[in-house]
Amino acid sequence: MSASVIYNAQLLPMHQGATFDLRASAALVIEDGKIAWLGTHDTLPAQYQSLPALDAEGHLLTPGLIDCHTHLVWAGSRASEFSMRLHGASYEEISNAGGGILSTVKATRAASEDTLYDLALPRIDALIAQGVTEIEIKSGYGLDLDTELKQLRVARRLGANRDIRVHTTFLAAHALPPEYSGNADGYIDYICDIILPQAVEQGLVDAVDVFCERIGFSRAQTERVFARAQAFGLPVKLHAEQLSDQDGAALVAKYQGLSADHLEYLSAQGIQAMAEAGTVAVLLPGAFYFLRETKYPPIEALRNAGVPIAVATDANPGSSPIHHAQLMLHMACTLFRLTPEEAIAGMTCHAAQALGSQQSGQLQVGMDANLALWQVKDPAELCYQFGVNPLIARWYQGRCSRP
Ligand code: NIG
Ligand code: FE
Repeated sequence: MSASVIYNAQLLPMHQGATFDLRASAALVIEDGKIAWLGTHDTLPAQYQSLPALDAEGHLLTPGLIDCHTHLVWAGSRASEFSMRLHGASYEEISNAGGGILSTVKATRAASEDTLYDLALPRIDALIAQGVTEIEIKSGYGLDLDTELKQLRVARRLGANRDIRVHTTFLAAHALPPEYSGNADGYIDYICDIILPQAVEQGLVDAVDVFCERIGFSRAQTERVFARAQAFGLPVKLHAEQLSDQDGAALVAKYQGLSADHLEYLSAQGIQAMAEAGTVAVLLPGAFYFLRETKYPPIEALRNAGVPIAVATDANPGSSPIHHAQLMLHMACTLFRLTPEEAIAGMTCHAAQALGSQQSGQLQVGMDANLALWQVKDPAELCYQFGVNPLIARWYQGRCSRP
């Protein structure tokens, strides 16, 4: 049995969603990887008073950050497409010309499992060094049985070898592979009958996602994948309303989806459906920024409807080649005008909800001791600046490391 106490901290428990419930002069006890007690230091129970103790020197202690939407496992580079866009081509034009996601698919298919793992390590390590203790990683750059499974195995291996919880998401319905050109329904059959069942059987899938878009899959195709996921008892989520309104948010809400992500083109009807189903809105400011999107997600309407808002990196080679959690907190505020309270909730308690995690995202007795201690006093500082890493230490299931 291992136990320790962090004292003289400023706690931000994130119990109340997007409202700060800061507690000064607080202490938190970690026991066997869980939060065993928290409160003001002067009320620390006698049984904990002789534990090994760390003086937080008045700094801010929050739940570890959670990045609930990434595509971290991929090979190749899309720098040339970045350049093409600067010469005037659009993201959709590049995709329609066989580039975009498919160029990453080609490189990812050709890469060995070890290479994919080696490429993903510095990406996940960058996030870990910024206080991220939990992450979602999608497949979707394989689009065939072998490569989808390979990506998911790499994601699992990252979670096994690093102090971070990895949630895997099956995203074979990300783009149409060349071998199914002109036969999207045939590819959906292949996903539903072959790839998904094998991935599930091998224990590689925690949730199922689809790219529902003009350049992705239709609502009807999305629904077929959701129905199959549901038959396996898996939760669903959706890349919805990123480039156009496909009414995807209402569809994922109909399946009690964990989240609808992107949402720049989200309609009032979609918001209503999400609010009723408890589906989290995941905002991805990195993709909005990198694609120079001009249409904003309907933040005020989401707020008014009481839809929980999460924020994530969307780390991927095409639309958000950004592995920086604190930059997302910053951009959520500067680009989307979220308050610091909302942005931090977006990478803690609401991100946990978007991943269906009951054991993280808040500082609460019984939850995993996934924590981040920051060289700041005011939580708004986490959103205000980026570039200097404010992380002093992080704990994953009670294990402490420093950047
Ligand atoms: O979240 N929207 C689809 N998928 C990714 C982009 C992937 C890519 O361009 O490689 C996204 O933006
Ligand atoms: Fe994405």
